[in-house]
Amino acid sequence: MKKIAALFLLALLILIQSCTTAIIDEGSVSDLEPIDRTVTYQSDVKAIMDNYCITCHGGPAPQGSLDLTTFSNTQNAALSRNLVERMNSQTNPMPPNGRLNPQILQLIDKWVEDGLLEQQ
Ligand code: HEC
Repeated sequence: MKKIAALFLLALLILIQSCTTAIIDEGSVSDLEPIDRTVTYQSDVKAIMDNYCITCHGGPAPQGSLDLTTFSNTQNAALSRNLVERMNSQTNPMPPNGRLNPQILQLIDKWVEDGLLEQQ
């Protein structure tokens, strides 16, 4: 009986441990190691848009009248349609169902820092 209680306790501890790890993983961009390479539209940003944005921001009638299927549209959205702010917003994020993970947001920040390039 004692053995079962000990096993139960162990399982509980592992569960708690994995939960706290998950929370740490979802930490903020500032907790991450800096990216030491140039981030471009072709290297990373296009895949992020394709995976998380173009279901709404693509096709014949893109939502918010914003198409994110091309480099120049995505660059323009970063320059003049608050793309970066919306991706980081706590209250009004893009995508609407919640901010993407910090690793992705860090890539977008680095793309801005590197000058919103299409490719190297
Ligand atoms: C489920 C659909 C959906 C997804 C997925 C989505 N969006 Fe949006 N987006 C909208 C809608 C609807 C609007 C217009 C209403 C608003 O501004 O909240 C909008 C507005 C925006 C705007 C503001 C445009 C402007 O000129 O005001 C930006 C920038 C934007 N989205 C970027 C993104 C990015 C970047 C992604 C992916 C990381 C994304 N969205 C994913 C539905 C979506």
